[in-house]
Amino acid sequence: MSQNMKGESHYTTALDAYPVLKDWVSQYRAVNAVQPKYYIRTFGCQQNEADSEIMAGILEDAGFLPTDSYATGDLILINTCSVRANAEDRFFGHLGSLKQFAGEKGRRIIGTCGCMMTQDIHRSRIEQSFRFVDFIMRPDQISSLLSLIEDGLIHKSIYYTEDRSTKFHENLPISRQRKYRALVSIMYGCNNYCSYCIVPYTRGRERSRKTKDILQEIMHVAAEGIPEVLLLGQNVNAWGKDFADQKQQNFAWLLSKVSEIKSIRRIRFMTSHPKDLSDQLIETIGRIEQIEPHVHLPLQSGSNRILTKMNRQYSREQYLEIVNKLREARPGLSISTDIIVGFPGEELADFIDTIDVMDRVRFDSAFTFIYSPRIGTPASEWYNPIDREVIQERFEHLVELQNEHSLTANMKLIGHNVEVLCEGRSSGDKTILSGRTADNRLVNFIPQDKNRTDASSNIIPATDREGEFIPVHITAAKTFTLLGEEICP
Ligand code: 5AD
Ligand code: SF4
Repeated sequence: MSQNMKGESHYTTALDAYPVLKDWVSQYRAVNAVQPKYYIRTFGCQQNEADSEIMAGILEDAGFLPTDSYATGDLILINTCSVRANAEDRFFGHLGSLKQFAGEKGRRIIGTCGCMMTQDIHRSRIEQSFRFVDFIMRPDQISSLLSLIEDGLIHKSIYYTEDRSTKFHENLPISRQRKYRALVSIMYGCNNYCSYCIVPYTRGRERSRKTKDILQEIMHVAAEGIPEVLLLGQNVNAWGKDFADQKQQNFAWLLSKVSEIKSIRRIRFMTSHPKDLSDQLIETIGRIEQIEPHVHLPLQSGSNRILTKMNRQYSREQYLEIVNKLREARPGLSISTDIIVGFPGEELADFIDTIDVMDRVRFDSAFTFIYSPRIGTPASEWYNPIDREVIQERFEHLVELQNEHSLTANMKLIGHNVEVLCEGRSSGDKTILSGRTADNRLVNFIPQDKNRTDASSNIIPATDREGEFIPVHITAAKTFTLLGEEICP
């Protein structure tokens, strides 16, 4: 957004091509004497968060200001997730509660976007029951956001088109939500077709962004003073596999290129698929210090029988071998995982195999999920929900075991000094700061802040230290967090 001679903001360039939206904004300003505000609610993974940052960037460029609730948003976007039924149900719950704010059509602009919007079943439900929605946008249409809003305002019914899809979102403004970490999508889509997963249907085939575009974006990130990048892809270590001319351009090579960008002190990446975790990548993770000593490596199941039914393309033995190689290459490396319980046909013996792999690996943390049937995926046709109680019991057992492993792993750090990248104040206690170690552990710590009086009075530290690397002495450990104190210089 630019400023005119009187210091008033105007936004002619971004809105010039969209006369109806421009008129809507002008009328809003005439009535309210302020800029309209946008609110984006994001469900799901970090890929979705990265998309939301681009949408926020486009809207801010057009003159909208950010706000933090549905009630105060003049333009509302809900970015949806299809990965499990729970996220879908929550989305429809939110949409229901929006009815009270919507008012007559056109007063507020309301759009729904993200993975669910690629599925007819969800679009039809919105069209039938939530007529106050102005437009529906697919994840591959983000670069056309303003044009879809324009059409949403023009059309009386909910606007949706399959046109205006693009392969990539290049050269778009990004409103980064964190000073300490930049989310950088390096590829979109997934080719793996795990039998339980909806993503290949919602996000399409794998498309790798070009090296030049990725490195250029990260150079901007570095110039903005953001010290950490998180390279994102549904199958991040398959980056480059779709290039016609492959040469040495694979994910390991990309990581080493990113590590050459000065002032990027931490390089994170997710999510890695075990089948694409090459020896070259393991060697690179072992050799380059800026690469995080942490890998998120979804196991999904420890049973070979289930892994085959899941179409995961590795065995438990191969998984364990990768873990060994990673730990040899980078001593102290932490490993987190995703595990699904109650996949169709899972027997007790399969579950015991999963427990066995967990005991052998001792993951530092794990996201555990109960299998959720996704219409259109092969596994949903094998679903037989008679064993709900058994599945719930297995789930609880698994969570308990993982909690034990996480706590033991965290306790090993008591008495050690670690470097924490500060993410801001702890959500629970505003006198305490929060951040992550290089191996991705969450640390809540007491700052050595001269302006801080005493913790009991809940006085907020005056210095904003987000994005700073802070040495911390670890004094205690919990299952999901470490506690500590900043070390005096
Ligand atoms: N049911 C349960 N969990 C699922 N995941 C993906 N699809 C499903 C499903 N249908 C989990 C996987 C994946 C994570 C992002 O979500 O563990 O790694
Ligand atoms: Fe949700 Fe998966 Fe889509 Fe991410 S990729 S938004 S987790 S469905």
